[in-house]
Amino acid sequence: MKNKGYQAWLGYRIPAEQPATARYGHYLGRLVTSLEGRQGPGGTACAELLEGIEASLGRRPQILGELDANPALVIGVLGETAELGPDALGMKTPEVLPPEGYRILTVRGQSGGPDYIALAGGSESGLLYGAFHFLRLLRTGAGLETLDIREAPRNRLRMINQWDNMDGSVERGYAGRSIFYKDGQVLAGSQRIRDYARLLASVGINGISINNVNVHRTETLLLTELYLPDVARVAAVFRDYGIRLYLSVNYAGPLELGDTDTADPLDPSVRSWWQAKAAEVYRYVPDFGGFLVKADSENRPGPFTYGRDHADGANMLAGALEPYGGIVLWRCFVYNCHQDWRDRMTDRARAAYDHFKPLDGRFKDNVILQIKNGPMDFQVREPVSPLFGAMAHTNQVMEFQITQEYTGQQKHVCYLVPQWKQVLDFDTRLAGEGSTVKRIAAGEVYPYAYSGFAAVSNIGDDANWTGHHLAQANLYGYGRLIWNPELEAEEIADEWTRLTFGPEPAVLDTVKGFLMESWPIYEKLTSPLGVGWMVTPHYHYGPDVDGYEYSKWGTYHFSDCRGMGVDRTVATGTGYTGQYTPEVGAVYEDLETCPDELLLFFHHVPYTHRLKSGKTVIQHIYDTHFEGVELVEKWRSAWLALEGKVDAERFSEVRERLDVQLESACQWRDVINTYFYRKSGIPDAGSRTIY
Ligand code: GCU
Repeated sequence: MKNKGYQAWLGYRIPAEQPATARYGHYLGRLVTSLEGRQGPGGTACAELLEGIEASLGRRPQILGELDANPALVIGVLGETAELGPDALGMKTPEVLPPEGYRILTVRGQSGGPDYIALAGGSESGLLYGAFHFLRLLRTGAGLETLDIREAPRNRLRMINQWDNMDGSVERGYAGRSIFYKDGQVLAGSQRIRDYARLLASVGINGISINNVNVHRTETLLLTELYLPDVARVAAVFRDYGIRLYLSVNYAGPLELGDTDTADPLDPSVRSWWQAKAAEVYRYVPDFGGFLVKADSENRPGPFTYGRDHADGANMLAGALEPYGGIVLWRCFVYNCHQDWRDRMTDRARAAYDHFKPLDGRFKDNVILQIKNGPMDFQVREPVSPLFGAMAHTNQVMEFQITQEYTGQQKHVCYLVPQWKQVLDFDTRLAGEGSTVKRIAAGEVYPYAYSGFAAVSNIGDDANWTGHHLAQANLYGYGRLIWNPELEAEEIADEWTRLTFGPEPAVLDTVKGFLMESWPIYEKLTSPLGVGWMVTPHYHYGPDVDGYEYSKWGTYHFSDCRGMGVDRTVATGTGYTGQYTPEVGAVYEDLETCPDELLLFFHHVPYTHRLKSGKTVIQHIYDTHFEGVELVEKWRSAWLALEGKVDAERFSEVRERLDVQLESACQWRDVINTYFYRKSGIPDAGSRTIY
């Protein structure tokens, strides 16, 4: 028997005797389709509906080739039959569905015709997304009498990046080992991969890269005959779910495999190696998505070695993929990771913009720059990367991190959708007011050929996928949010909780409450006022205030006996604020207007500096740390009160994690408070215990 968490948000069933579901039988006893048993997303949609309806109704629908005089659910691609035609669906002809869109409509039988529910996709993929939407309705007990839904994803690329290595380890993985690899082998036939594809498709993901961006020796071989047959098998699994497969590649692949004696992107031998490689990959995987590349970043090879730049490197790979419609996702996580901490003017936050902005317009159309949401590295709080949207002539996707590297490693609850939501709503002002990140990503500000989102996955082979049951909400939320960036974080939390734990009000309120409070709690405990990096080096869990302070990584807070923070102003600091548009830069530049939550990211201030909240910086640090622990204590009692309302397995697994979270919260509180008390000599106004 699998863990209760294995079904994730696809498991809950409204009990058949509920009033909401009483009339389901009217429509769902019969399914009109030509897709049963077929391969591809259409066949998958049909299979999902059959299974999901059977689970809700207690019996499998009868399959029919055509609609007759009786009510039914009719599924297919728009226009496939008269019942699924634009007229029947109330869509005027030019107003067709985009391929990944869908329409769900309850059609009332007119002039003797039957009642039916039409579920039509703009393509088979659209149909699959529609099927999952429809099943969400069933799983939450929605009525079916007046459905009138029309949806399409706002973003073109909706990607997941696995950071899995072929030895079975997962870089920054907190949920067990890889589901893709074990001991140097691809687990190509694994049911687990299929179940994962299903989870991803159910929230609209359409692309996945299946190996770590740090591509080492064994993974370099993924592009060779040795592993391509396995890669093709994995691609076929994802294809059934409308998801294209990508690989992370080693920029110096041809050199490291001994096939060339250079990796210079302008060298003809290198170019023809990649051309031949692309041809070979497409023989195995005809719909291969393309390459994800981490080059000249954290000691990975890249074009700099040969005096070339990122455009030279990316264009060379893009040229090889171009004949097949493939793309290159070129990461912008490029900075000096051998910095001298004594040098206060070199600012890692500036690096991506300084490297890439001058290259705008030089990249081929099938190159997409992949830019982390903040200028540093997935910290609890960062401003939005000034590079995002700053290159009007270069395709871009934004990269989020679902895996909780810096946000509690799936031991703490940390629901990240509110953080992402703030990023999406941020107005860059790059093309005037309203140039929000979400509009740029959707290609609505500049006509990017490709744009959207990528994110680092948080799953592993743990029985419940994500280690912490509540961390599933981040994977779910990522998919839902990038499908429709107008959804509210709380709406998504509500949806996920209902689908995962059912509608019991006490459970719903408590779990939703945890999710919504969780990121603020983690911020209170670990990252006051936009300062990051006070974590144990390398592991990034638990406090070590000076762990990165005298290191080469460019990650400092500069605390001394008087104050703390990084001066990134143009006037007296590193000049980073100058990378934003003048309107945005001015807000951060001025101590008066800089938002409290980013104060120490942009300014070095005395501990006695007064915040907009009226508190001093030091008192804010003390207060937030005491509050953080108090909130986790409250959570613990709230969870204990749910005993008997949540199944025993998930109840005790979550309780165990909450104990770990509480212990860690106390450690954060005491270490941070004590450190800053000893540095500043200023006591807590509340005279609470500090060591
Ligand atoms: C972070 C993370 C690394 C990762 C890197 C990246 O630095 O700690 O493990 O490789 O980001 O995004 O490439």
